[in-house]
Amino acid sequence: MIGKRVLIGGLCGALTCVAGGLSAAEQQQCVDSGRASTPTERFAIFDDGTVRDRVTGLLWKRCAVGQSWDGTTCREAPRKQVKSWFSWQGAKAMVARLNDPSQKHQWRMPSISELKTLVESRCQKPAINLELFPNAPAWPFWSSSELSSNPDYVWRIDFSSGKLGTDLKTNYSYYVRLVKGEAPKLDGRTMAKPRSAEEEEIAARNDGIHDIENPDLTLLQRYDQATLGFPLDTRDQVDWAKVLLDGIIEPRTTREGDQVEMAVWDHTIIFKDTQGMPWVRFPHKLHSMWLACENCHDQFFETKTGTADISMQSIYTGQHCGACHGRVAFSPNSCERCHSELYPGVQKWW
Ligand code: HEC
Ligand code: HEC
Ligand code: HEC
Repeated sequence: MIGKRVLIGGLCGALTCVAGGLSAAEQQQCVDSGRASTPTERFAIFDDGTVRDRVTGLLWKRCAVGQSWDGTTCREAPRKQVKSWFSWQGAKAMVARLNDPSQKHQWRMPSISELKTLVESRCQKPAINLELFPNAPAWPFWSSSELSSNPDYVWRIDFSSGKLGTDLKTNYSYYVRLVKGEAPKLDGRTMAKPRSAEEEEIAARNDGIHDIENPDLTLLQRYDQATLGFPLDTRDQVDWAKVLLDGIIEPRTTREGDQVEMAVWDHTIIFKDTQGMPWVRFPHKLHSMWLACENCHDQFFETKTGTADISMQSIYTGQHCGACHGRVAFSPNSCERCHSELYPGVQKWW
């Protein structure tokens, strides 16, 4: 897969990325300007050759039907296999054969609005993110959406250019990319359909993080329910420090649940090189209430004040405090939570 990368990952040179891999002789072409429509970070990538779109909630196969996932990339479909299910009807019948009818959630052909969410607007040949869909054919893909004015025609997307169009069902041999799940935001009809209480519960967890196929899914507490009434910070995010200090939660000290005593250390450090901003108050106490010393020492900080060359840039790029803040702890944009130490001459500025 080396070399087969799109610009979205920032790994290619100016304008083109060589499509290496097994057979793709063509070069993907990407422009370096504008925003990626399908950034890799939007997707959760799984080992079994699927990706979940965190925005739509849909689960996609990384390989087109006929290609096979070898753990790293998609092996090319023999041309004759694609030909063997010539026509949209043929493709549909083939999708039905691939499914196990006893399973509740079936792989299916995507609707046109679902398929459209995979078009990478910055790239052509193919117009798709190759980090997510390696070796993707630059060729049209069928959708399940028939043209309402003439059901002999079906919507499809040409993944060479990324353009939508319609074609006669019977006349073409196109690829299919399978999808699972529902995208309520994309399809007015699914939105309007009344849901059972269980379907509502599942939908509420269909956030790209939960495994919606897990039969015990609805036993898990929902985030919105679990955090109901918790104190919020100025950015309306849960103030986890306050939640902990007020005793609203009592986290396990280990994953397995054996209650090991936390080594809480009440030692505050004030960072003063803040260029006119209030100083930064770093409380060891709050941090060591739920982090072991080894979480920070010595991988992020040495046990000697003034050693680390901390700056806002280092924080925003994920170093020092930014190893957690902006990831698993409150964002670096909540300035006043760190810059909380006023001194003569510096009043509240926010
Ligand atoms: C969330 C991260 C974090 C955790 C957890 C943490 N520390 Fe620190 N520690 C720091 C930072 C930041 C500094 C200052 C480093 C610098 O200025 O370069 C520091 C400094 C120190 C210092 C030097 C203090 C001084 O005043 O010179 C000691 C000693 C220390 N830590 C011990 C501990 C111990 C013991 C624990 C566990 C109870 C612990 N730390 C947990 C981040 C952490
Ligand atoms: C997670 C804690 C944290 C947050 C949130 C935070 N800062 Fe900082 N900031 C620091 C630390 C630590 C330093 C380094 C101070 C030192 O080295 O003495 C710093 C330094 C600075 C400096 C000095 C110049 C520099 O870049 O190092 C400025 C200016 C600054 N912060 C502004 C801000 C603004 C504006 C915000 C909100 C957008 C903000 N900070 C949010 C921790 C934070
Ligand atoms: C290893 C992870 C980690 C690192 C590194 C870390 N923090 Fe935190 N910090 C947390 C967590 C977790 C919380 C509590 C959760 C939250 O408030 O989002 C927290 C909370 C805080 C609070 C809130 C305290 C309160 O009582 O409201 C401040 C202030 C803070 N951190 C400053 C810093 C500064 C400054 C640095 C760098 C010198 C830093 N943190 C480095 C994990 C970290």
